[in-house]
Amino acid sequence: MKRTVPELLHAAEPLVMVTAYDYPGGRHAEGAGVDLILVGDSLGNVVLGYDSTAPVTLGDMIHHARAVRRGAPGTFLVVDLPFGTYHTGTHDAMKAAVRVIQETGADAVKMEGATPEVLEVVSVLTRNGIPVMGHVGLMPQTATAQGGLKVQGKDEESARRTADGAVALEGAGAFAVVLEAIPARLARLITERLTVPTIGIGAGVHCRGQVLVYHDLLGLYEGEEKKLARRYAELGREARGAIAAYAAEVRAREFPTREQSFVMKDDVLGKLY
Ligand code: KIV
Repeated sequence: MKRTVPELLHAAEPLVMVTAYDYPGGRHAEGAGVDLILVGDSLGNVVLGYDSTAPVTLGDMIHHARAVRRGAPGTFLVVDLPFGTYHTGTHDAMKAAVRVIQETGADAVKMEGATPEVLEVVSVLTRNGIPVMGHVGLMPQTATAQGGLKVQGKDEESARRTADGAVALEGAGAFAVVLEAIPARLARLITERLTVPTIGIGAGVHCRGQVLVYHDLLGLYEGEEKKLARRYAELGREARGAIAAYAAEVRAREFPTREQSFVMKDDVLGKLY
C-alpha cells in the first residue's frame, strides 16, 4: 500500500528508499516492498553515462519517471528536479514541479541545497500542495562549487551550514531531508534536531531512513565498491558472464536449439521447395 506523507513522517521503522530509473527498476523496488522510490538525477551518471548530473534535463527526468511509475504504481515516488529547473525563480520551479507531478504521477519532488533561493522555492511548492524532499551535505548538482564529490560537514563551518540548512528546509516545509556524505555524528545531531525524517546516504545509521542507488546496491558496475554504499548482489558480473555465455553458444551453433525453434509441417515446407 502506498505510503502517505503523514505515514512517512511518523514511521516507527527506518524508511527504505532506493533509486530507480526505468520500468524494471520500478517493478523490482515495489516488489521488494520499499517505502519510497527516488528517480534521482544520478540518472545522468548511472544510466545515461554522463560524468555529472548537470546535463540531465527535465525531459529526461520525466521520461524515466513515467517508466518507473508504470513499474511501481503503488509506491511513494519522489522525482529529482534537475539542475537549472529551480534556480531561475519560484515561478519556473513551480512550473517544473507541476510538470513532474502531472506527467509522471510522482508524489513528491526533491531538490538540493538550502540557500535562501532554494528555501523560497521549497516554501512556495509546499504551500501549493507539492511535497518536497530536501537534500544537504554532498550535493552532486553543485559539487564543483563544493570542491568536488567530497564528504561535507567535517569542519565546524561546513557542519554548521549543513545542520542549519537541514533545519531551515524543515522550516520551509520539506517533509524529509536527504543527508549525503556527512559524518555519522553530524547526521545524528541533525536527525535529533528535526522532526521530519532524515534519509541518509553515507551518513551513518542514526538517520531515520536510508537510500541507495539501484546500480550500487545491485553491483551493476564492476570495480571498487563506493565507501557510502553496500553491494547486495553482483549483477554486473552476472550480466557480463551471461552475455559472454550466449555469445559463445551462438558462435558454436549451440544456440538456439529445437527448444527455442518453431516447427513447420513437412507438406507446407515441401510445397515451398
Ligand atoms: O540522484 C540521486 O540518486 C540522489 C540520491 C543519491 C539521494 O540524489
